[in-house]
Amino acid sequence: MTQQRLLFVCLGNICRSPMAEGVFRSIAAEAGIGGLQVDSAGTGDWHVGNPPDARATRAARARGVDISGQRARQVSVDDFDSFDIILAMDSANMAHLRALVPHGSHKVRLFLEFAPESGESDVPDPYSGGADGFERALDLIEAASRGLCAELNARRGD
Ligand code: 4NP
Repeated sequence: MTQQRLLFVCLGNICRSPMAEGVFRSIAAEAGIGGLQVDSAGTGDWHVGNPPDARATRAARARGVDISGQRARQVSVDDFDSFDIILAMDSANMAHLRALVPHGSHKVRLFLEFAPESGESDVPDPYSGGADGFERALDLIEAASRGLCAELNARRGD
């Protein structure tokens, strides 16, 4: 298996991608998948240096995942060298990433490609809504994390 460095990307890096980083780490650990490097970043710079949104931290904690130690950062061109798979939370994030480094587009995937049973392509941005948006985002993130772990496990056997 060659691809082991994963970067989760959303807009602000305070809601969806920090939850994805934490949930994916937890599910990968449960699945016994070691040797992964996992991080998250935002396409925007508004929240750089900040901890995750308190609603994201609370919702993740309720599912047994602690994301409170994370700090937001903005995605950079260098990330395309430092990571093997870059997982966009929605199609706007994906378009931004592909425009940032067109020759790195093959590394960028929509995260929900790994949860085809959801019938969704985007993890909806919960920032401006209520608590239910964070629960819905976590449901989708858990499903895609399981799918991604299954793919990593399958590749490991290659
Ligand atoms: P995220 O949510 O992309 O899931 O971290 C957002 C957080 C902040 C903003 C937008 C989305 N914002 O506009 O500040």
